[in-house]
Amino acid sequence: MRIIKLSATKSTNSYLRELCTQENLDDYTVVIAGEQTEGRGQMGTQWQAQSNKNLTFSVFKSYGKMEIEGQFYISMVVALSILKTLQMLSISGLKVKWPNDILSAEKKICGVLIENVIKQRHISASVVGIGLNVNQTQFENLPKASSLKSITGIHYNLDELAILIIKRLKVYFDKLASGQFQEIKRAYESHLFRKNKPSTFKSSAGNTFVGFITGVSDSGKLEILEENQVTKLYDLKEVSLLY
Ligand code: BTN
Repeated sequence: MRIIKLSATKSTNSYLRELCTQENLDDYTVVIAGEQTEGRGQMGTQWQAQSNKNLTFSVFKSYGKMEIEGQFYISMVVALSILKTLQMLSISGLKVKWPNDILSAEKKICGVLIENVIKQRHISASVVGIGLNVNQTQFENLPKASSLKSITGIHYNLDELAILIIKRLKVYFDKLASGQFQEIKRAYESHLFRKNKPSTFKSSAGNTFVGFITGVSDSGKLEILEENQVTKLYDLKEVSLLY
């Protein structure tokens, strides 16, 4: 496994994306940064993390040719890999908030930004970016954020933690490569935050409504059973869960 350790960079995802245009990377080439000056989150947001206290890293994974329709399976295996690693460390109350935030006791401890490389209308590779809050314990203006140390009181070794996650990624990407789609989806849905619980959502038009999350579609849309007993599918831009 090739690990590129940087004291600081703009974004480990940007660094690895650039690197994969310059050379043929081996699977599980990893870029870890002590500090990101322009860390990126989902949907154009910023990812902020105190330097040298958290894990901010990106992993390269190639596939040959994966159907674009299967891209949510990449999200699911990444979320499961992180969740399983944290379960091994006895972190309590772990859930996946759709699509791939990892929560402990309803607080976000990890975010994932997956950027796919598309070639000839197929996914040829992904840059999997993981931001895990580890030893930081102050989260100003972020009441819904937490970290491993805030939960357990333990100070963690960042490199060891990264290796544990990468090992799990290998296990789960192998399951994906061997076509274990049902198992992956079933496992993902079993950890879904607020599944089958009455929940309040906000639509992109600003309306709030009540419904039950029942699962996800193969394409990664959230299935919500609404009050009129109709199940509707939503993508990330169309709905947010209020909690
Ligand atoms: C989110 O929850 O919005 C996703 C956050 C992803 C953050 C990680 S940190 C390592 C990698 N590099 C980035 O710029 N972003 C991801």
